[in-house]
Amino acid sequence: MTEEGADESVIRRDRFSGGPARSFLSSLAADERIFEADLAVDRAHVVMLAEQGIVDADTAGEILTALDAIEVDGHSSLPAGEDVHEAIETAVIEQVGADGGKMHTARSRNDEVATCIRYRLREDVLRALEATLALRASLLEVAEAHAETIMPGYTHLQPAQPTTVAHWACSYESAVRRDTERLLEAYGRINRSPLGGAAFAGTPFSIDRERTAQLLGFEGVVENSMDAASSRDFLLETTGALSTLATTLSGLAEDLVIFANRGFVALSDDYSSTSSIMPQKVNPDTLELVRAVAGDAAAGVQGLSTTLKGLPRAYNRDLQRATPHAWETVDAVSEATRVTAGAVATATWDEEALAAEAGAGFSTATGVADALAAGGLPFRTAHELVASAAENGADYAALEAAAEDVLGEPLEAHVDPAAVKSALDPAESVASRDSQGGPAPSAVADQLESATAALAADEESVEALEASLEGARETLREEVNGYA
Ligand code: ARG
Repeated sequence: MTEEGADESVIRRDRFSGGPARSFLSSLAADERIFEADLAVDRAHVVMLAEQGIVDADTAGEILTALDAIEVDGHSSLPAGEDVHEAIETAVIEQVGADGGKMHTARSRNDEVATCIRYRLREDVLRALEATLALRASLLEVAEAHAETIMPGYTHLQPAQPTTVAHWACSYESAVRRDTERLLEAYGRINRSPLGGAAFAGTPFSIDRERTAQLLGFEGVVENSMDAASSRDFLLETTGALSTLATTLSGLAEDLVIFANRGFVALSDDYSSTSSIMPQKVNPDTLELVRAVAGDAAAGVQGLSTTLKGLPRAYNRDLQRATPHAWETVDAVSEATRVTAGAVATATWDEEALAAEAGAGFSTATGVADALAAGGLPFRTAHELVASAAENGADYAALEAAAEDVLGEPLEAHVDPAAVKSALDPAESVASRDSQGGPAPSAVADQLESATAALAADEESVEALEASLEGARETLREEVNGYA
């Protein structure tokens, strides 16, 4: 490109500088989030252009040196621009001269921004994944400490059947484990490079897309160039996975708010707030905020899906406003997950209060019906008998009276009284329910074993992904140093 050509391009940018709509058009402020990503994408692209002989090594060296200086100065020092891509290119040209404009050979801001978003989102999803791992570890610690701590279990928020704190904690660990899986799967689809798709229609230059993908640590490319520049389903999928996680968290938070209200659990001071007027208050504010983050995340999904719906191929500026929904969601949900992990890890369970309430509301009734059914009564008949007892005292005497009433026979004719008395005891009731996945300490021990193994495997997966990104960063730095 001649100097004259460079001047023309500057004039063109002046002509389309936005006028009164300048700030409406600009994503420069929001793009701070992808400043580092854009520098990495620029570096990988320039290294590849030099390797392919599209840009000579000296020019590549000058551009790469300028990019290092721009990084040191930081996003806030960038010249004006419609977005970070334009501003960095302007800064490169300011330092290198017109040859700096060779950086944008064989690419467009369309493939560039898509690559930057994926590059940055990988980091953010890794932080979210780490938070899910921390929460799972906290829940498993609670489960290990409270295998025998009986507590009331609820349906419809009414006392239902006694269970244990460990069983409760494992139930949430199982759910968060699936949230980890969903994020890992989303990561696999984020982790592909659109770079080289150009505006959407490819390029006549002999670029090496696999090479830039490798330099940026991606597992291969998004092959079709139109798909590469256009698609944001990875944002919707990731935000959806985060929203599902936030929904899991909101239920966990709500349980803890209720348990705190009933005196079953006390949050540590670090996760509580007090009142500015009522001196005695210790409120579970952190968990209420966690509960609310499900609303933020659902809004993120809604914002994204509404923005993306009906967008034609290949690039439309709407996409600029899609991206922040994903940033806001990943930030809010990751923070909520970390806070929940801390609140769970530091809460204190009141074993006495839990035991005192474990049998409340005749929560052992199902176990008594089970004992009668095990003695040979049809379960439906046993259910009738126990329901009748529930309305007339809910104790052994009431069961004897109900047997005479419903069966016209003494209770002992159908079941060993010792079995009934055992079923009426909340702890024995829990211990009897040792079916796979159940609350009996023996069954929870099996769940803990598989949960611990799954957590270790997921920790390894996340570490491997982090190591792979770190390796790519080092490789790129070495390649850049060969020129700069
Ligand atoms: N800033 C834009 C975005 O975030 C990328 C620029 C592409 N602009 C364009 N007019 N093709 O999507």
